[in-house]
Amino acid sequence: MSDLRITFFGDVVGSLGRRAIAHAIPRLRAEKSSRLFVANGENSRNGSGLSPDNYRELLRSGVHAVTLGDHWAKDRQILPVLDDPHEPAARPANLAPGAPGKRFSIIREPDLPPIAIITVLGRMFMPMPSDNPFAAVDREMAEIGKVAPDALVVIEIHGEVTSEKQAMAWHALDKHTSSSGPRAVAVVGSHTHVQTADARILDHRLAAITDLGMCGPHRSIIGRDIQATLNTMVSQLPSPLDVASDDNRACGVLITIDVEGRRASEIEPVGIRVPE
Ligand SMILES: [Fe+2]
Ligand SMILES: [Fe+2]
Repeated sequence: MSDLRITFFGDVVGSLGRRAIAHAIPRLRAEKSSRLFVANGENSRNGSGLSPDNYRELLRSGVHAVTLGDHWAKDRQILPVLDDPHEPAARPANLAPGAPGKRFSIIREPDLPPIAIITVLGRMFMPMPSDNPFAAVDREMAEIGKVAPDALVVIEIHGEVTSEKQAMAWHALDKHTSSSGPRAVAVVGSHTHVQTADARILDHRLAAITDLGMCGPHRSIIGRDIQATLNTMVSQLPSPLDVASDDNRACGVLITIDVEGRRASEIEPVGIRVPE
């Protein structure tokens, strides 16, 4: 095994998002040889939160690890899953020290090195207070080193601001791609639900994209019903922001990792349309 392909999907929005994942995974497996799949599940439960049922559905569809963002605990029934060391689901690593839930997941598959997934929240224009995400990544890389020193690590930064997300990619390249111990191979952004056009490999080692985009209805305002969002924004009339229903797509990136070289070699945006 010299090349490993991993797909990382952006925020899964509602039942359409879950359906988009189920549609995209067999195609990416067959057509792109993607072996591992990771998805941010924070909007899976009707647009906000992740229920245990949603989580199981994502795993049944072929997802190997689920991440979360600022909506990590909107459905509190997910907390035992996040606490369980055998469940590949982790909450953002830079919450308050007393917050429940694991701070990273490790995917262990036959004939592959351990693949660790860390998610952190950005702090700029994010309403949820959180600790320094750069320090949190440094701390979790050290923690991963204690249990999986040969891990290859994918870091997700769930944030609003492009500069903060790009800064995380350069920080990971600077600090976590050359020493012995766990090695960062990718930094992917999430939270804005809009895919950015900057997927690239930094210095022949680290795959990066500022935002993965979302899995869910794209005839929408970041996944939500257009009219309800306009009522809220144009008329300032609070309205329930239901999930929209048309133009369902699964967005993310396909990352190729040179396993022996312990580096990323390619990154390709993914945007798979689900037939109506
Ligand atoms: Fe989201
Ligand atoms: Fe978010």
